[in-house]
Amino acid sequence: MRIAIAGGTGTVGRHVVAAAERRGHDVVVLSRANGVDVAAGTRLGAALAGAEVVVDVLNTTTLSTRKAVSFFTMTTRHLLAAEEAAGVRHHVALSIVGIDDIDASYYAGKLAQERLVRASRVPHTIARTTQFHEFAEQIASQTTFGPITLAPRTLSRPVAASEVGAHLVDVAESGPAGRAPDLVGPRDDTLAGMIRRMYAHDGVSRRVLDIRFPGTYGAGLASGVLRGGGGGGARRIGETTFDEWLAIRHRSRKPESRAAGPSAGT
Ligand SMILES: NC(=O)c1ccc[n+]([C@@H]2O[C@H](COP(=O)([O-])OP(=O)(O)OC[C@H]3O[C@@H](n4cnc5c(N)ncnc54)[C@H](OP(=O)(O)O)[C@@H]3O)[C@@H](O)[C@H]2O)c1
Repeated sequence: MRIAIAGGTGTVGRHVVAAAERRGHDVVVLSRANGVDVAAGTRLGAALAGAEVVVDVLNTTTLSTRKAVSFFTMTTRHLLAAEEAAGVRHHVALSIVGIDDIDASYYAGKLAQERLVRASRVPHTIARTTQFHEFAEQIASQTTFGPITLAPRTLSRPVAASEVGAHLVDVAESGPAGRAPDLVGPRDDTLAGMIRRMYAHDGVSRRVLDIRFPGTYGAGLASGVLRGGGGGGARRIGETTFDEWLAIRHRSRKPESRAAGPSAGT
């Protein structure tokens, strides 16, 4: 079937595209690099022509509640309106395990997105997962200052983005279900521990400080709710551990990029 993947060039989006193509689906990628700005709502109608399913893995990088709510509200509204006009039969939204009581900062945007999806006339599935293994790189690239990385204290149960990609294609193929089983990783971890092991693996000498972030957001990250299991709902457990992912990632990198280490430090 024809699947449109909004954010298909991103960290998880690339894996959704690869999994969908492996299974023989006709894939359309929506991203600004592909000429479709979902936040502005430009060229959406043409991009969704003939699509049966839309998988939304768009993202913005912000801790501002206002910016996060604005981005996820605008992109979700534009997508759902264009899907309704195009006759799309299934909207799949990727969200995050355990965020229900963390209505602040970035997670306020995700909760606003979930509410719009639930209220929409487009049949939908909200699929929640825990943090990706790749989250360690994503955070470190934003919170590194010279020889120090600040790791927001986070209790997580990380999962490989490649497994999230395959899970989202399973969800897309299964048809609208309202809510998919949560996908969580195989082991508990901390973000500081993940970043330290990533640096050790890459031969990067940098101190990682485990810092408790303030407010509702910081309390949520440190509380353990992001590991899931609190609500007792259905869940799937990923197979690849963070350390296995590190080894795979290391092997798949080019020698020169290995020598350069992660792109943190900007
Ligand atoms: N990171 C995690 O650990 C984690 C865990 C669970 C769930 N999630 C969810 O997974 C989703 C994807 O996260 P990610 O880390 O894979 O994102 P990412 O790497 O930051 O990629 C974001 C994607 O969105 C596209 N995009 C951004 N703004 C756009 C716009 N205005 N119009 C069209 N495309 C736009 C980007 O392409 P262009 O720049 O070319 O536009 C890119 O393809 C998010 O919703 C996040 O909440 C993340």
